[in-house]
Amino acid sequence: MSKSVVLIGYPLKHSVSPAFQQAAFDSCGLEVRYEKWETEAERLAEAVNKLRQPSMLGANVTIPCKEGIIPLLDELSDTAVRIGAVNTVVNRDGRLMGFNTDVEGFTTALCEDGGFAFRNKRAVLLGAGGVARAVMFALLNEEIRSVTVFNRSIERGRRLVSSFAREAGRIELLALPWTELETSSALQDSDLLVNCTSIGMRYGATEGESPLRAELIPHGALVYDLVYNPEETPFLREAKRVGAKTLGGLSMLVYQGAASFELWTGKKGPVDIMLKSAREALE
Ligand SMILES: NC(=O)c1ccc[n+]([C@@H]2O[C@H](COP(=O)([O-])OP(=O)(O)OC[C@H]3O[C@@H](n4cnc5c(N)ncnc54)[C@H](OP(=O)(O)O)[C@@H]3O)[C@@H](O)[C@H]2O)c1
Repeated sequence: MSKSVVLIGYPLKHSVSPAFQQAAFDSCGLEVRYEKWETEAERLAEAVNKLRQPSMLGANVTIPCKEGIIPLLDELSDTAVRIGAVNTVVNRDGRLMGFNTDVEGFTTALCEDGGFAFRNKRAVLLGAGGVARAVMFALLNEEIRSVTVFNRSIERGRRLVSSFAREAGRIELLALPWTELETSSALQDSDLLVNCTSIGMRYGATEGESPLRAELIPHGALVYDLVYNPEETPFLREAKRVGAKTLGGLSMLVYQGAASFELWTGKKGPVDIMLKSAREALE
C-alpha cells in the first residue's frame, strides 16, 4: 500500500518541504507521497485525527500549528516538551508521537557547515519566537559560555530566558531590548550571531531588510541567518561585506527534514539530494 506524509500548517504556498521530501522518498525507492494539507488552527484537530489512518506515516507541522498540536498527540519526545513545539509527527499503529527536529537541524548545520566549536563561546540571538526556543535549547546542550537574546518585545525575550534558566546551569543568559543593539557590548563581543527573526524573509513584511545595519555586525562572529528564502539574505550579504563568516538557513531546513525523514522511514535522509531539490524549489 502506498503511504503518505503530510505538511500541516497555513499558508503552505511557499514551503519547499514538499519538493525536497518527495525527492528523498523517490530517490530511496519508497512509495510515499508528501502532500500539503493547508490547515488553519481551528481545523487542526480534524486534520490530526486523519493522521491515525494506517496509510499515514506521519506529518511535518509548521506555523501556526506547532504549539497547538501538542495536546492532540499521544506522546512527545523530551525535546518537544522542553521546546513546547512539534514539527514532526510519527504515526505508530494509530498512536501519534510528536518530535522537534529543529534542534538537530540547527546543531548539525552549525557544526558541519559552519565549522563552529561551542566551547566557551558567546552567542547572541536576534528574536525570541518559536525557532529561537529550539536554538536556545540546542545551545544549552553544548558547552557555550553565554547566550544573550535581543527581542523587539522585551517581555517575550525575558520569557524565553526565564523558561530555560534551569537548563542553563553555569551558562549566562540575558534578555535585552532590541533598542540596545545600538550600544550593546554583548553584540560586539559575540562569537556567534543568529538571526531567529523573520526579518528579510521573501514575501514577508520585511522582505529586502536586514535586522542589523552593517556597522553593527561584529566582524569576528559567525553570522548565521535562519531565514532561508532567499538563500542569500540581505543580512548575510552585509555580513560578508564587513568580513564576517556566514551561514544561511537552508542547510538547517534540510537537516531537520532529514531527521524527520529518518523518524518516518527508519532510513537516513539523503541530504545531498534534499539540498539540491530545496535549492531548485527556491529558485
Ligand atoms: N532554517 C530553518 O530550518 C528554519 C526553521 C524554523 C524557522 N526558520 C525561520 O526563522 C524565522 C522565525 O521563525 P519563528 O517560527 O521563530 O517565527 P515567530 O515565532 O513568529 O517569531 C518571529 C520573531 O521575529 C521577530 N520579528 C518579526 N518581525 C520583526 C521586526 N520587524 N523587527 C524586529 N523583530 C521582528 C519577532 O519579534 P516579536 O516577539 O517582538 O514579535 C519574533 O522574535 C522565520 O523566517 C522562519 O522561516 C528557519
